[in-house]
Amino acid sequence: MKTIGVICAMESEFECIRQTYSHGTVKNIGLMSFYVAQQGEKQVVASVCGIGKVNAAACAQMMISVFGAECLINSGVAGALSKELHIMDIVAATDVVYHDLEARLLEGDYFPHCAHFPTDPKLSGLVEEICREQGVPCLCGRIASGEQFVTDSRLKEAIIAGTQAISVEMEGAAIGHVCYLNQIPFTVVRCMSDGADDNGAMDFDTFVGKAAQRCAGITLELIARM
Ligand code: ADE
Repeated sequence: MKTIGVICAMESEFECIRQTYSHGTVKNIGLMSFYVAQQGEKQVVASVCGIGKVNAAACAQMMISVFGAECLINSGVAGALSKELHIMDIVAATDVVYHDLEARLLEGDYFPHCAHFPTDPKLSGLVEEICREQGVPCLCGRIASGEQFVTDSRLKEAIIAGTQAISVEMEGAAIGHVCYLNQIPFTVVRCMSDGADDNGAMDFDTFVGKAAQRCAGITLELIARM
C-alpha cells in the first residue's frame, strides 16, 4: 500500500487535514504526533512539524524511516515574492532552495551535490490541474526557505536576487532536501498569505486563516488523486 506523508508547520494549516483524517490513529514519537489513516487504497501519515527547517527535516525523516512514507507533501501558507502573485494565489513548487545557506556548500564537491531540490513534476502538475478546475490562480516556480519570517521589502528583494524564487517560507527546502537524500518524490503546495514586504506582518494576520484553509483543500484533493 502506498504511504503518503503530509507535513504542515502550523496548527492553522493542519486543521482541515486533521478533520479529514480524524478516523485514524495518533502515534507519538518524541514530541511529534502523527495521524495515520487509511484513504481507500492509500495510507496517509500527517503531522504538524512546527516552524523552521530543523522541525521540518526531523518530521520528514520520521515519516520516511518510521512510517515508510514513499512521497511527501508540504502544505501551508507562504509569502509572495513574484509580482505576478496575489494574496490567496497558490504556488506549486518546481524546486526548493535555501535562501540562508550558500548553494555552493551543497553543490559540486560538497555532499549531496545538489542545492536545488526538484519537486515531482507529476505531483506539482496535479496541483496546477486542481487549481485550474477550481478557478484558483496558481503559479509554478521556485520556493525559497529560510529561518526568517520575511516582512521587509529590502530583504524580499535580496531573496529574489539571490534565488530567483517566486515565494518564500520556512520549511519547504528542508523537506525537499530530506526527500532528495532519501530519493523519494515530494511537492510543496503553498497559498499566499502575504507579500513578504513591509505590510507582510499585517497581511499575514489578516489572511493566514483563509489561505491555510484553501491550501489544505487543494492538498486533500491532491491526495485523493494520487
Ligand atoms: N510564511 C507565510 N508568509 C511568510 C513570510 N512572509 N516569510 C516567511 N514565511 C512565511
